Amino acid sequence: MSSSFKWGIIGCGLIAPKFFQALENTGEGHVVAAASKSMRRARRIQQKLGIECAYGSYAEMLEHEKLDAVYIANTHAEHYQSAKLCFEHNLPVLVEKAFTRNEAEAEELIDLAGMKNLMLMEAMWTRFNPATVKIRELLADGAIGEVIRLKAAFGVKMPLSMKTMPWNRMYNPYLAGGALLDLGVYPLAYARMVFGRRPERIGGSAKMAWTGVDKTSEYHLDYGGGRRADLMTSFVEQRPRDAVITGTKGIITVPHFSGADRLTLTRPGGAPEVIECGANGFEHEILEFHRCLREGLTESPGMPLSETLDVMRTADALRTLWGMKYPGE
Ligand SMILES: NC(=O)c1ccc[n+]([C@@H]2O[C@H](COP(=O)([O-])OP(=O)(O)OC[C@H]3O[C@@H](n4cnc5c(N)ncnc54)[C@H](OP(=O)(O)O)[C@@H]3O)[C@@H](O)[C@H]2O)c1
Repeated sequence: MSSSFKWGIIGCGLIAPKFFQALENTGEGHVVAAASKSMRRARRIQQKLGIECAYGSYAEMLEHEKLDAVYIANTHAEHYQSAKLCFEHNLPVLVEKAFTRNEAEAEELIDLAGMKNLMLMEAMWTRFNPATVKIRELLADGAIGEVIRLKAAFGVKMPLSMKTMPWNRMYNPYLAGGALLDLGVYPLAYARMVFGRRPERIGGSAKMAWTGVDKTSEYHLDYGGGRRADLMTSFVEQRPRDAVITGTKGIITVPHFSGADRLTLTRPGGAPEVIECGANGFEHEILEFHRCLREGLTESPGMPLSETLDVMRTADALRTLWGMKYPGE
C-alpha cells in the first residue's frame, strides 16, 4: 500500500475543497483527480485547488486514473450509484453522509464492499474528532455510569427560495434532500454511539416543505427502561448544536457537538470539569481511513458499517412515520 495516497473526488461542490485541504494537512496523500457531472464544475475546482486532472464524468475518472481511494461528495441520492461504480473499479470509498437514501441501498453497498473485500466508510467526520473519541473513552470507563438520556439539536437556517430550486439539493426530494438526511444523521449517529445499540421504539414528527421533504424534524428514540434520546434538526431555525448526555452518575455536556473541541463533565457533588480535547476537522477521519487501508481493514472500528446501517434504518422508520418517500423508492 502506497505511503502517499492518491485520491479521486466524485462531486465538485462545496464540501470537496474542505476534504482536499484536510487531506493535504494530513501529509499522507493528495487529490489527484476530480470528477463532476459537469466539466465546468470539475474545471473550476481543478483551477481553484490546483488538482492535476479534471473529468466531466465519474466513470472516465475511474477508468483513466490510478487511484488508491475515492471520496464521494455528491447528493445523497447519488451516493449509492457512485460507490457501486467505484467498487466496479475495485476502489475503496469514503462516502459522505447521509450514506445513502435508505437502508436497502446502504445494505447493498455494504454487501458489495464485503464481497470485493474493499474498504468502505461513511464520512461521519465528527466521530473521529478528539472530543468524540474522549466521550467514547469516558462512557467506556463508566465516568457517568449508564447513559439514560441524550438531548441534541442541530439546526442550520437554510431558506428555501424559488431562485435556488431545483438546484438546491437541501429541499429537493429527487436528490434525497430534507433536514433528516442532511442534518439529522449527525444526532442519530451520536445516539447510536452513546447508547451502543438500536432504539426499541422510534417516534417523531416533521414539518414538511412544499417540496415534500422535512424542513424541521424531531426524533424520540426509546431504548427501554426509561432510556431515551430526544433529537431535533431544522433548516428553519438556527439552534445551538449542543448535546447533553445524562448518565446515572453524571452528565457530559458537549457544546457544538458536531464539531466539538471540548466538553464538560459534571458529577454529583463535584464542580463541572472542562476537558479540552484538541482541534476538530476532516483530518481525523482521513487518517483513520488511511490507517485502515494500510492495515488491510475493510471497515473502521470507529465508524462500523453496522452503525451506519442502523442510522439509515432509523431514518427510514422516521420517514415511514411521516409518510415521506423519495421518488423512485
Ligand atoms: N461532512 C460535512 O461536514 C458535510 C458538510 C456539508 C455537506 N456534506 C455532505 O457532502 C455531500 C455534498 O455536499 P455539498 O454541500 O458539497 O453539496 P453541493 O455543493 O450542493 O453539491 C455537491 C455535488 O452534488 C451534485 N449536485 C448538487 N446539487 C445538484 C443538483 N441540483 N443536481 C444534480 N447534481 C447536484 C453535484 O455533483 P457533480 O459536481 O458531480 O455534478 C455537486 O457538485 C452531501 O452528502 C452532504 O450531506 C458533508
